[in-house]
Amino acid sequence: MSTPILVTGGTGNIGRHTVPLLRAAGREVRILSRHSRQAEPGIEYVEGDTVQGTGLDLALDGVETVLHLAGGAKGDDIAAQNLVAAARRAGARHLVLISVTGADRMPIGYFRAKAAAEAAFQTSGIPWTILRVAQLHDFALPMVKVLSRMRSAPRGLCFESVAVTEVAARLAELTLGDPVGRAADLVGPRVQEIADMVRSFDSARGRGHRLLRFGIPGAVGRAYRAGDNLAGDAAVRGESTWEDYLASRATEDAPVR
Ligand SMILES: NC(=O)c1ccc[n+]([C@@H]2O[C@H](COP(=O)([O-])OP(=O)(O)OC[C@H]3O[C@@H](n4cnc5c(N)ncnc54)[C@H](OP(=O)(O)O)[C@@H]3O)[C@@H](O)[C@H]2O)c1
Repeated sequence: MSTPILVTGGTGNIGRHTVPLLRAAGREVRILSRHSRQAEPGIEYVEGDTVQGTGLDLALDGVETVLHLAGGAKGDDIAAQNLVAAARRAGARHLVLISVTGADRMPIGYFRAKAAAEAAFQTSGIPWTILRVAQLHDFALPMVKVLSRMRSAPRGLCFESVAVTEVAARLAELTLGDPVGRAADLVGPRVQEIADMVRSFDSARGRGHRLLRFGIPGAVGRAYRAGDNLAGDAAVRGESTWEDYLASRATEDAPVR
């Protein structure tokens, strides 16, 4: 009998798309969550907190493979260190981490914490797999909505946003396979300026207006203008575009008349 796969962040957006794929492959899943939840067929929940370091020993009991998706604006470095320490104690055999493209280049705390989380996995002594992914279409949408309302967009800010279903499929594949170290980054079909994403959003809603352009100041602005958040040529590109995503949400994003 195979051991359960521990998924931290299994209740989040990416986790909700990944867990069913692990289930469909016949694996039992254990999800670590900060909240107490009812078990479902093939899925059990353990209450705990990766940043506080609580519940991890119980969550890792009898587990060989860990998919670490839990994350937030702060503390991803500490969370990874806590998880790695508990995984060592439990004798885990494969640690899988989601990270973000440009983790080691962007001068922003979130990216720095992701780079530190990567280092914790790489030096864990446990075989590991790390997948860096671009921002999800779902992540870009709230930003695009605000910019559309403000009728403005920063100059030189580009994303290569990707569909959550494509990210989940790749994560499931890597989690079910042997450790590969750094997997090729997974990004969306193309590099797109945020202004272009706002125009597509407006046009999907039957609107169009001139955008006021502004510059992002400081080191962060320079890094974005240099494309330090982008994956480069070696990345694997998904197929589902920003425009496909907007079309799939046509009813939800329709303007209130
Ligand atoms: N969204 C993107 O565009 C994107 C791009 C690249 C990488 N990533 C990374 O992918 C991961 C998942 O992203 P997502 O969009 O699915 O996030 P999300 O929807 O915001 O979900 C966050 C998940 O993390 C869990 N979590 C947060 N803090 C925790 C803590 N201290 N202890 C235990 N669990 C905690 C939450 O579980 P409970 O609330 O149940 O405790 C939830 O399941 C994150 O690490 C994120 O940085 C995201």
